[in-house]
Amino acid sequence: MIIRPRRLRRTATLREMVRETKLSVKDFISPLFVKHGQDKKDPILSMPGQYQFSVDTIVKECEALWSLGIPSVILFGLPDKKDEKGSRSWAEDGVVQRAVAAIKDRLPDMVVITDVCLCEYTDHGHCGVIKNGQVDNDDTLELLARQALSHARAGADIVAPSDMMDGRVAAIREALDAQGYQDTAILAYAVKYASAFYGPFRDAAESTPQFGDRAGYQMDPANAIEAQKEVQLDMEEGADMVMVKPATPYLDIINQVREISLVPVAAYNVSGEFAMVKAAEARGWIDGERAMMEMLTSIKRAGADLILTYFAKDAATLLER
Ligand code: PBG
Repeated sequence: MIIRPRRLRRTATLREMVRETKLSVKDFISPLFVKHGQDKKDPILSMPGQYQFSVDTIVKECEALWSLGIPSVILFGLPDKKDEKGSRSWAEDGVVQRAVAAIKDRLPDMVVITDVCLCEYTDHGHCGVIKNGQVDNDDTLELLARQALSHARAGADIVAPSDMMDGRVAAIREALDAQGYQDTAILAYAVKYASAFYGPFRDAAESTPQFGDRAGYQMDPANAIEAQKEVQLDMEEGADMVMVKPATPYLDIINQVREISLVPVAAYNVSGEFAMVKAAEARGWIDGERAMMEMLTSIKRAGADLILTYFAKDAATLLER
């Protein structure tokens, strides 16, 4: 007798019945970029189908996402001006703050997450303040806390620090609690690698460092044990969820983090992962829809509870069909 696993692959219905991993639209968080102005929807060239929105058009986009069943968005801001300390990042009338308020006003049940980081707001493009030519960890903490607090005040449900400074989760938690925002959750970019796959994002967010790189604060792609340490620390500091980023080149890490994490694990399917599929699809080298679904399914199979992905709208549309 030979064992025949193929018996269960005979028909589409059978395959569906025994499918171990099922993607749901509720897994998705859609990243969106917001800038000043009105009626803007400027295409991002390296990320086909993605845009820089103004506050009015981002609300419309959120309505479209919400009607597809997508529960959540994460916002990245493009300020009107940048400076050494990134002071527009905590401005009450800042672009993210205004967008959060406008989205929550129209769609109170949508979960609005904000990215907390200085790189989009500093003129040098680094994720923290510069002291003696270095990104200074401890001086940056206070500014991140200020930014997170301003997002909470605007109505953000979750703040998501992506800067990779040590101790920032604790600093943000403390600042939020002190001002009565004990219900604002923290999604920590706990395991964020210094990755080449962020290239298109830096075009979109205009946040490429003007000197050096981010290897002094983001993680070395060769390290796995260190990922466990980062997750452990962020849980101790009060993170409500943790993230692994990027996703597909780090499926082993997602899997390991899922094993040890006592909080939900999100994975960020980043701009470069998205752009590779879109570019190959445009050349007719790959079936873009199938590659997208395979990628997202693999991220979930690896252990991600939530997926931040630029594919959210496309995948939701496909799942609805
Ligand atoms: C900001 C930030 C980055 C991304 C998310 N938040 C860029 C970076 O660290 O350079 C990347 C997201 C993507 O590539 O889709 N610190």
